[in-house]
Amino acid sequence: MFKNAIVRTPSRSMVDGITEADLGKPDYENALKQHADYIEALKECGLEVTVLPAVEEYPDSCFVEDPALMTPHCAILTNPGAESRRGEVAHIADAVKSFYDNVEEIKTPGFVEAGDIMMVGDHYYIGLSERTNQEGADQMIAILEKYGMTGSVVEMSEMLHLKTGLGYLEDNNLVACGEFLSKPEFQKYNLMEIDQNDSYSANSVWINGTVLVPAGFPETSALIEKAGYKVREVDVSEYQKLDGGLSCLSLRF
Ligand code: GLY
Repeated sequence: MFKNAIVRTPSRSMVDGITEADLGKPDYENALKQHADYIEALKECGLEVTVLPAVEEYPDSCFVEDPALMTPHCAILTNPGAESRRGEVAHIADAVKSFYDNVEEIKTPGFVEAGDIMMVGDHYYIGLSERTNQEGADQMIAILEKYGMTGSVVEMSEMLHLKTGLGYLEDNNLVACGEFLSKPEFQKYNLMEIDQNDSYSANSVWINGTVLVPAGFPETSALIEKAGYKVREVDVSEYQKLDGGLSCLSLRF
């Protein structure tokens, strides 16, 4: 169960965030409205939400999932592979330290964005992407092992982050699309296949028994409901324009 979430108000500069989505620039006012509903959804799942202020200097800083990994035993400040995002770590460090006594960090030449990390119990899958390298993954695994957890790397070639195409819903249920459907390491899970046309909705998020699903993907909502979960749809279309998913918008711990 999760108790807390950290989010960050999007900055006006978000319209200049990194993207390959080709969906146009986000509408800032609508992004703020969607962010408020996202916070509401987190609260409906029983989380106490800490809302950090916007940081204009970093257009992608509302995607707080990437600069830190929160585990039950320690927090790890990452070192984003995207150079324009590296400074986000210093901005989130105090908030992370306010919740954890044990705070570790990933150091150059290791790079990690925690959107590339999926937690399954005490095990953490780490995607090797354009943002997370082997050295970063090695450092991350060493830190996890220091606290009695484990990690393993996942080779990937199609997606921005590991969780762009994967969402673990607990109880052995894993929503997946694209290259992840055929990965040997995921065959032990009950794979819930997301059609390529709906790939954005593979980034659905389990929180305390409810699954947040991006609005606009009724087949994904139906699939997840059929598996026995309560679904809460959240419209994050302005964030989709920045390649940002539901999970990217919060740290949950
Ligand atoms: N715009 C989110 C990212 O590319 O990191």
